[in-house]
Amino acid sequence: MPDTVAIRRATLDDLPQILERWSELIAHHQSVHPDLFVLAPHARGTYGAFLRTQMANRSSLVLVASLGVPLGTHGVRLIDGFLSGAFGQRAPHFVERDVGMIFDVAVRPEARGHGIGQQLVAEAERIFSKRGIKWLQADYAPSNDSAARFWQADGLKPLLVGGYRPVSKR
Ligand SMILES: CC(C)(COP(=O)(O)OP(=O)(O)OC[C@H]1O[C@@H](n2cnc3c(N)ncnc32)[C@H](O)[C@@H]1OP(=O)(O)O)[C@@H](O)C(=O)NCCC(=O)NCCS
Repeated sequence: MPDTVAIRRATLDDLPQILERWSELIAHHQSVHPDLFVLAPHARGTYGAFLRTQMANRSSLVLVASLGVPLGTHGVRLIDGFLSGAFGQRAPHFVERDVGMIFDVAVRPEARGHGIGQQLVAEAERIFSKRGIKWLQADYAPSNDSAARFWQADGLKPLLVGGYRPVSKR
């Protein structure tokens, strides 16, 4: 039987726990790419402010998930995972412009492998779909093995590939 995962929109009370999940996400990125994921001293505050803005914005979504327990309206339970995203638009010269964007999905290391990530994406998809969105968009680093496998299992197909390299002195 699949694990029970309770999902709801985040409230301000959830912020400290979401920031814990975000710290774990960043730690994971740092383990894959130590150079490009070093945090500025103000990072936690800056990301917290970004989340607050997202929670107040109707064109954004921040979802929280908890394994095996019903979530109350406020964030008193252990939050095992979160997802942030937004309704987005591609360039005006495309016919297919509206997309549901997923910025971050992170699950507490001890709670991974129970379908939380998958169900967070399914809930975001349900919300996007209710607003007529037909396409989901997310970025991941191919070198981030768990993220690459997660998104491949989800059915996401890479469209554009970007990259970084140091600028050489010429
Ligand atoms: C990627 C992440 C969000 C997945 O969350 P999760 O709750 O563990 O994922 P799920 O249990 O919903 O997995 C769904 C499917 O994805 C695939 N998958 C997920 N993690 C995997 C892994 N480590 N290895 C192989 N496949 C994996 C599987 O096919 C899985 O289905 P299955 O268990 O039926 O085989 C989680 O590993 C995480 O927080 N990683 C660190 C942060 C990160 O990299 N986030 C993504 C940034 S874009």
